[in-house]
Amino acid sequence: MVRLDGKVALISGGARGMGAAEATLFASEGARVVVCDVIDDEGKAVAEKIGASALYQHLDVTHEDDWADAVAATTAAFGKLDVLVNNAGIAESAPLVEMSLESYRRVTEVNQTGVFLGMRAVIEAMTEAGGGSIVNISSIDGMVGMHNLTSYVASKWAVRGMTRVAAMELGPRGIRVNSVHPGFIPTTLGIPDGVPEAQIHGLLDAHAEKLAPLGRTGTADDIARLVLFLASDESGYSTGSEFVADGGLTAGYPPPGSEHL
Ligand SMILES: NC(=O)c1ccc[n+]([C@@H]2O[C@H](COP(=O)([O-])OP(=O)(O)OC[C@H]3O[C@@H](n4cnc5c(N)ncnc54)[C@H](O)[C@@H]3O)[C@@H](O)[C@H]2O)c1
Repeated sequence: MVRLDGKVALISGGARGMGAAEATLFASEGARVVVCDVIDDEGKAVAEKIGASALYQHLDVTHEDDWADAVAATTAAFGKLDVLVNNAGIAESAPLVEMSLESYRRVTEVNQTGVFLGMRAVIEAMTEAGGGSIVNISSIDGMVGMHNLTSYVASKWAVRGMTRVAAMELGPRGIRVNSVHPGFIPTTLGIPDGVPEAQIHGLLDAHAEKLAPLGRTGTADDIARLVLFLASDESGYSTGSEFVADGGLTAGYPPPGSEHL
């Protein structure tokens, strides 16, 4: 079964991590994909690896004009736009007492304003296509809080909230809007300069092994498969909803004295 046959998808932050996994999986399921990012060389490489069903488009999600250009490039190349994955994101870590206004604004500009601009930019094209699916990548940090991530948590809760509003407003146009809430996925997100990726990933693995009922960190493919479901018509009656993929991490907490805490 080819689950995205005939669909055209735009993926922000598609040059690496989960966005690249989504672009690759979508194309293997019959979609034509526009990989968008600010790291052009990596983004072009992802599109080239996929082949003729993909193209790369520079898109800084904080720039309104870039969004207009990306939607225009998509419809010019592939004739329409059915799916938007608002995946681009950044994280900057600091205790609240030390977090600078500049850092707070940087993170919310990409993670929150970027999602707002993206959803707004695709409405007309999706309406012309007869409907569509917008998948907003939030986080488990849009369900709970996390130390040292005030800006990130604020932005991811905002994504969860605006997903619901958009679902209500866009439902009559046949556009579904859902949010995805990944747990810990070893990518380059939020790795401070100079800290080896392997060190951070080792910490994530140890954390998830201890705390997540499924006992492991997730993979980019774990998330891509959920996003594929939401992009496809298989999720046709779901909108305004939150889809968590975190190995059970946010299901609850163990009893006092348990070896798991
Ligand atoms: N990795 C995790 O544990 C985790 C958990 C929950 C949610 N998420 C979310 O998943 C999404 C993907 O993150 P990832 O883990 O694959 O990280 P990643 O850093 O590998 O990928 C993020 C991509 O976004 C791009 N990007 C950053 N700023 C951009 C901008 N202004 N415009 C366009 N693109 C931009 C980056 O260049 C990068 O390619 C993010 O929204 C992130 O917040 C990640």
